[in-house]
Amino acid sequence: MQLEPVRNHGFRTWQFLASIPGSSVRVKQVDLGSEDLVFVFPKWVYNCPVVNGFLSSADLGGRRIALAVTYTSGNISGYVERLTRKIGKRGGKILLSMPVKRGSEEDREKFIDGLRHLSGGD
Ligand SMILES: Cc1cc2nc3c(=O)[nH]c(=O)nc-3n(C[C@H](O)[C@H](O)[C@H](O)COP(=O)(O)O)c2cc1C
Repeated sequence: MQLEPVRNHGFRTWQFLASIPGSSVRVKQVDLGSEDLVFVFPKWVYNCPVVNGFLSSADLGGRRIALAVTYTSGNISGYVERLTRKIGKRGGKILLSMPVKRGSEEDREKFIDGLRHLSGGD
């Protein structure tokens, strides 16, 4: 499923909002369903307001979560850590979290391998 803002904006506005720590927008309600979740969140400047909006109201208590943070360039380990902590604060139990660079087959494989590991496969 996809997170969608209640109100959409143009690129410049999103970029601006993304540069403000803690900025958040209202997102359309999603039904999370399963206890085991895979989040694929994008790296947006400092934070993604859509992701923040989702996390501000999501009940992640007791859920097991694998997180991939997609990005295009730079070192995003701090960003991934911050997001991981934020999910933890919402009660989610992060079992796997890693950056996945656009176009990197290696990163993609690593994440899929990690998921396989979690689900008990080899
Ligand atoms: C508003 C905005 C800000 C972004 N900021 C960053 C950034 O700071 N660093 C980065 O590596 N990518 C940035 N991106 C690129 C996204 O991370 C990228 O679009 C996302 O990971 C999804 O990948 P895709 O566009 O290949 O589907 C930004 C994208 C948008 C729309």
